[in-house]
Amino acid sequence: MSDSDWPQRDRRRGGERRTGRDRRTSTRAAAGVPGGKERREAERRTGAERRNERGWQPVALEASVMAEFSPEQGLLAAARAAREFAQAHYSHFKVGAALETTDGTIVTGCNIENATYGLTLCAERVALVKALSEGHTMFTRIAVVADTAEPTPPCGSCRQLLWEYCGDIDVILGNPQKVTGHYRLHALFPIPFDRRLL
Ligand code: THU
Repeated sequence: MSDSDWPQRDRRRGGERRTGRDRRTSTRAAAGVPGGKERREAERRTGAERRNERGWQPVALEASVMAEFSPEQGLLAAARAAREFAQAHYSHFKVGAALETTDGTIVTGCNIENATYGLTLCAERVALVKALSEGHTMFTRIAVVADTAEPTPPCGSCRQLLWEYCGDIDVILGNPQKVTGHYRLHALFPIPFDRRLL
């Protein structure tokens, strides 16, 4: 039943006549959720975000982390959380990535290896193909996390695909403790081969 049906239902029952708006407000108040502009922003969610709230992806976890930290730290936290799902049975080198869209959606990925080795999927490309397959086409930043003191930058294949589909985005590199590097993609991929040359 949609929110707009609620007042009628209350009337039939002869009970307290709360509108859909009242219901949302009281539920929000009980949950300590802010109103006004923040509420409207929260209600302008994408389908992917709503799915995430239902627990289909680990992004529900990340959202609570994001509320506490700066956006950059939130993105890194999302990449760190995704890294925990890495399928790195051969290299034991776990990587997590979190790609942010222009509407603020975060899509995560982890590296996925297999017995042929060569079919390995990097965390960045997993995040990218997930995002594209959910209809996201505009991106702002990607965070990449590995457990290394030095920055772990995207490999050449990932740079190619990130460049083509995301453009000159920010690339934030980190490890479980801190940021290890911050680049624009063009600095990592200065002379790209792309569709302008075709
Ligand atoms: N890997 C990534 O997922 N992203 C990177 O940026 C570098 C490398 C993965 C691929 C492979 O599963 C493992 O790390 C070791 O190369």
